[in-house]
Amino acid sequence: MAITPDQLEPLFRRHFAERRFVVVSNREPYEHRWAEEVGEMDVRRPTGGLTSALDPLLQALGGMWVAWGSGEADSAAVDHAARVRVPPENPSYTLRRVWLTHHDIHRYYLGFSNQFLWPLCHLRPDLTRIRARYWERYRRVNRRFAEAVLEEVQEKEAAIWFQDYHLALAPLFVRARRPNLTLAHFWHIPFPPFDIFRLSPHAGYLLRGMLANDLMGFHLPQFADNFLRCARRLAGAIVNFETRTATLEGHTCHVADFPISIDVEQFRGLATAPVVHENMERVRAKYTPRGGLIGVGVDRLDYSKGLPEKFKALEFLWDRYPEFRERFTFIQVAVPTRSDIEAYDELAQKVDRQVWEINERFATDGWKPIHLVKQSLPPEQLAMLYRLADVCLISSLQDGMNLVAKEFVASQVDRQGVLLLSEFAGAAEEMTQATIINPYDPEACALAIRDALSLPAPVRAEAMSRLQGSLRTIYDWMGDVFTRWGEVTAEADTERPAPEPEEDELFPVGAAPARNYSAGDA
Ligand code: F6P
Repeated sequence: MAITPDQLEPLFRRHFAERRFVVVSNREPYEHRWAEEVGEMDVRRPTGGLTSALDPLLQALGGMWVAWGSGEADSAAVDHAARVRVPPENPSYTLRRVWLTHHDIHRYYLGFSNQFLWPLCHLRPDLTRIRARYWERYRRVNRRFAEAVLEEVQEKEAAIWFQDYHLALAPLFVRARRPNLTLAHFWHIPFPPFDIFRLSPHAGYLLRGMLANDLMGFHLPQFADNFLRCARRLAGAIVNFETRTATLEGHTCHVADFPISIDVEQFRGLATAPVVHENMERVRAKYTPRGGLIGVGVDRLDYSKGLPEKFKALEFLWDRYPEFRERFTFIQVAVPTRSDIEAYDELAQKVDRQVWEINERFATDGWKPIHLVKQSLPPEQLAMLYRLADVCLISSLQDGMNLVAKEFVASQVDRQGVLLLSEFAGAAEEMTQATIINPYDPEACALAIRDALSLPAPVRAEAMSRLQGSLRTIYDWMGDVFTRWGEVTAEADTERPAPEPEEDELFPVGAAPARNYSAGDA
């Protein structure tokens, strides 16, 4: 049965009694910026799946969120302890900001996190760049996050929930100081197979950091399995594939899969707001002046999203099936991201060039095939676009989940749109009623788009209502995490050893944890 936001607090209390709830992530849910008016501030919600997924939970539950204070006015908005209550319009939880220097941002965030771990986990070792100074700073910043958590928790009991690949080491720093705290970690991106993860010179240390959690969560069972294999072969953990546990130095980490979702009601509500009809008419008139069909794509401008592959497929569509020229228009929202990194900058240029060429080739008087919107849009506008769209095209080459797929389905109140979903997005595992595509095969994708646009209305409605029927919410996801985490916490040995090693003992520079390549696969 579906879980509602008001059931989360009692669910959490049932499992964790009086413990404080602390979420820790690199990205913060609210950034303060200076407004145009001198001395005034406004607040921005950074784009991205993680923050938009967790913010409603924290609002429902209260507690604390520890994150990098990345906004230009962030330091002016906090109290003496770097805390601010959010959301500004209805303060319901505390955001504790961690300050990063210019070097931290370059080496920990843009360096180790996004030029090493991100491409590695998205199966792009060719794009990795590793430097000693990145790793050194990654350790240091992870320790700083851990210290902020420890400062907030003091001697109290708490349930600490780490997020994502930026913070693989922080759990071990916390565990070393407070062995009895219960720690969980959710990895929002894919976890790669052993043959890829072993390319990391720091694999053993990273795994050791992650294994300090009581519960390690991934989107899909195959990511959890990859992690267990790596834990066994690269960190020397004793792994039980049946119970899905990995034990290292007397501590057992449980591993599970929890496919993340969205606030379904929020998107449904936005898509049915009274102003939506008028806005849909306006957009249709602007982009399809002669009437016709609309496709949408919404992605960060990231190489894992397969934008060049998507545009190639569209080019094949207009080339092979000229009846769609002037009849089908594509709107691609491409949100700039991590643009200080060369691979992202190159991708942005490539996408610009490709869209320009396609438009040059097919545009006619008054009609342009692709509209590239290079900015993030507020959820109200996204919901309107999703409702309006005849197809939504998701072409990820590798994606942990892809929440756009779920937002589209939640917003499709008229049930006339078709979801074309890459088989390499985690969402494809659950959303089996979508039209599954292989973005590496642009001709087949073009055919799939053509077929989707030609489907009779009742067939589209049937597929969409099945997709809607199977959509779980972010609250269900949270409920699953709390329930499993609660069980694991109850099982955990309350007499955990309490070593207090120095930082360098935790991650000695010289000796790496033993790798065990001969241990076999399972
Ligand atoms: O998928 C991982 C993730 O952290 C998402 O939660 C989010 O969409 C994206 O990456 C944001 O990236 P960044 O914080 O680097 O802008």
